[in-house]
Amino acid sequence: MREGQANVIYRADYQAPAFWIDTVELCFDLDPAKTRVLNKMKLRRNPDAVPQALRLDGEDLNLARVLVNGQGTSFKIENNQLVLENLPEGYEPFDLEIFTTCAPAKNTKLMGLYVSNDSFFTQCEAEGFRRITYFLDRPDVMASYTVLLRADKARYPVLLSNGNLVDQGALEDGRHYAKWVDPFRKPSYLFALVAGQLVCREQRITSRAGKDHLLQVYVRPGDLDKTEHAMNSLMASVAWDEARFGLSLDLERFMIVATSDFNMGAMENKGLNVFNTKYVLASQATATDTDYSNIESVVGHEYFHNWTGNRVTCRDWFQLSLKEGLTVFRDQEFSQDLAGEPSARAVKRIEDVRVLRTAQFPEDAGPMAHPVRPDQYLEINNFYTVTVYEKGAEVVRMMQTLVGREGFARGMALYFERHDGHAVTCDDFAQAIADANPESQLAKLLPQFKRWYSQAGTPRINAAGQYDAASGTYELTLSQSCPATPGQPDKLPFIIPIGLGLLGPDGREVGNGMHVLTEASETLSFPGLQGEPVPSILRGFSAPVILEFDYSDEQLLALLAHDTDPFNRWEAGQRLAVNRAIGFIREAATPQDIRLDSAYIEAMRTILRHPTLDAAFKELVLTLPAETYIAEQLDVVDPQRIHAVREAMREHLAQALYEDWQWAYEAHRENGAYQPDAVSSGRRALAGLALTQLCLAARRSGDAVWPGKALQRFKVASNMTDRFNALAALVISGHELARPALQKFHAMFANEPLVLDKWFALQAGAPDRGGQVLPAVKHLMSHPDFNIRNPNRARSVIFSYCSANPGAFHRPDAAGYVFWCERVIELDTINPQVAARLARALDRWKKLVEPLRGAAREAIARVAAKPDLSNDVREVVTRALSD
Ligand code: TRP
Ligand code: ZN
Repeated sequence: MREGQANVIYRADYQAPAFWIDTVELCFDLDPAKTRVLNKMKLRRNPDAVPQALRLDGEDLNLARVLVNGQGTSFKIENNQLVLENLPEGYEPFDLEIFTTCAPAKNTKLMGLYVSNDSFFTQCEAEGFRRITYFLDRPDVMASYTVLLRADKARYPVLLSNGNLVDQGALEDGRHYAKWVDPFRKPSYLFALVAGQLVCREQRITSRAGKDHLLQVYVRPGDLDKTEHAMNSLMASVAWDEARFGLSLDLERFMIVATSDFNMGAMENKGLNVFNTKYVLASQATATDTDYSNIESVVGHEYFHNWTGNRVTCRDWFQLSLKEGLTVFRDQEFSQDLAGEPSARAVKRIEDVRVLRTAQFPEDAGPMAHPVRPDQYLEINNFYTVTVYEKGAEVVRMMQTLVGREGFARGMALYFERHDGHAVTCDDFAQAIADANPESQLAKLLPQFKRWYSQAGTPRINAAGQYDAASGTYELTLSQSCPATPGQPDKLPFIIPIGLGLLGPDGREVGNGMHVLTEASETLSFPGLQGEPVPSILRGFSAPVILEFDYSDEQLLALLAHDTDPFNRWEAGQRLAVNRAIGFIREAATPQDIRLDSAYIEAMRTILRHPTLDAAFKELVLTLPAETYIAEQLDVVDPQRIHAVREAMREHLAQALYEDWQWAYEAHRENGAYQPDAVSSGRRALAGLALTQLCLAARRSGDAVWPGKALQRFKVASNMTDRFNALAALVISGHELARPALQKFHAMFANEPLVLDKWFALQAGAPDRGGQVLPAVKHLMSHPDFNIRNPNRARSVIFSYCSANPGAFHRPDAAGYVFWCERVIELDTINPQVAARLARALDRWKKLVEPLRGAAREAIARVAAKPDLSNDVREVVTRALSD
């Protein structure tokens, strides 16, 4: 076992720290092989805590010196902690000086201080600061930081840290220094430094509040022309938070820095956000519309953390959703508000729900299921999950639904009034929203509402309708239940806001409203109807639940044709498709025999040809539900069969609507000068889907016209969205033109790492036709451009195959699982955080059909049997194997 192996941490064990750290002065002599860190702190005993020794966290550090009030002192190292027992008594502040060194160039975990492309970066959340110096590395210890950076001037001309630059100058031997002071107290996880050869785009802005600010986006020389969109997104974020929540930027200078080696998306360090290049760099030649929209959300997300996370932070890591759920909610609202039009807002909502249902619902039904506010963890990095982030955001959204938009803004104001500058809990947040809205159902039912924080698992709503023609009354019975999850056999009822509408026999809406379900079962009565209505339930996806209602095809077709709620209109189409997919899977129909019925085909044609619906919405309706989403609806899963059925449905839809796809392609292919706005990106998405469908149809007919047109489009496209969609159409349809196109694509973008990631991912995620994908993936791993140490590149090949290509990964010969097992073990020695994410690819192994189930179990057991596993991977595989 590894040194200092941690044990399970429980939320219930929280204790206030025995010491406070008021100020920190850090001095860095930056050197890739050996960086020297002098840390001078002012500490004092916490009068409200039981007197104890001081235990400072530290990891992979070389300790050279410890001084208390300038004097040497006795200390010991125990379980990665520096323990000081003979400290001055009483509550007077004292000085503690610690001198350590570390080796950034050897830091492959990318936590703490590391080197990427000859620049220095830090990543301290959640527990990376302890890899820089000994510290009380926990979010409730907030200190004022002064940072002095020293480094070679030619190699590291730019020296950045949090806050304001107060001094800089030259030193001897070609070195220089910069001194930064952060005016705000902060927990250690928000510390950052960056040093290297970087250039920046600058923008001066004046806020609504009349203050001037300097915004900067730092990138490597050569990437400056790809920073305009990130800067625009940042300016939009600043304006939005002021307009919507009255929250202004509190710093004179706000910096974003991009690095190509990063474990996650981005990090909200105070005043110095560090980003994965994937969420900063964009040009029309290299980034797709999806990239542009992701950049907008992530820039917004990190900026919004400045208030929700930094000004008010988490008391302990169990409260992670306090900042993450709330900040995801805020970035979702930001993107919706920027989209503007109601239909574009709805498209964004559908996209967000799709993420929740394809990623979070499986998590909540699997071995890693945990509440939005977890009760225990072995490794906190494993709890940066879709549950904490996306389900957490849905919980905040339900609060807004229950108190209204204005009431929610009032609640936010109260939250900051009470807690600004403090480290608090999810309870504190919910209490503030409720207290600002004392008459709301949220306030009246707060303890029950908070079960959303404590109970894991996706609740199910079973709905059943009964129409009494004689009295014209429709009765709708809504019953809720929630399945058992690890450690939680029984669940109590939730508070569930349910958006409702009733469509009359002619398709017109005859009523709508919001019902708040509080009991296990309730029956609603709708009198005065002219005929049996079609219920539109859970409009706007008003709660993160699974809705079970035994809709007939006629009812779903009516909703698809007429529902005024765009979410449920889309949902009706998805239900029609899922029902058919499940039918084909159960009937064990051979793919060649799979024919979609004309009612479904005609409904899809009507949407595709609809005169007023948006292209973006049409593209969502015409896209079949994901394989993982279909899998979740089944008790026993055969991923290859699901894949074959979905492919057959897609091909039949391609043929049956051939002329309509031709029309759709021709009508949407030209979009003028490139703009990544909602309307033109929706048109490109629909044209892209049409082109793929036309190439798929050609696959059966052998016709070469559309593959030829796709190749032509690929060659002449003026933006990455059109170019990549054309390439994908060839790869997905398995046409022989894919090979030369892939070669050309690589040659064109050989110097664009983010584009090469797309090139790798497209091949590793390609449909498997006869088992060719795994050998291709192994081949890609020996490509000179492959590097397993770079997380983006590892994700583009290994994750695209193991986590995003179920039809190719779940091979009956188990070769996919053997590959997975080897890569988890290999990655664990390099970067445990990335390895643990990959380990989760087999989360749902228990649902697999034999012999896959047994083979998957064996592969997981093989990982688990490995000695020296990181806590990260060990936690994932242990939970996967436990019942
Ligand atoms: N707080 C970051 C965010 O969501 C998450 C994050 C970035 C992170 N890098 C990380 C979490 C590394 C753990 C480890 O915005
Ligand atoms: Zn975040």
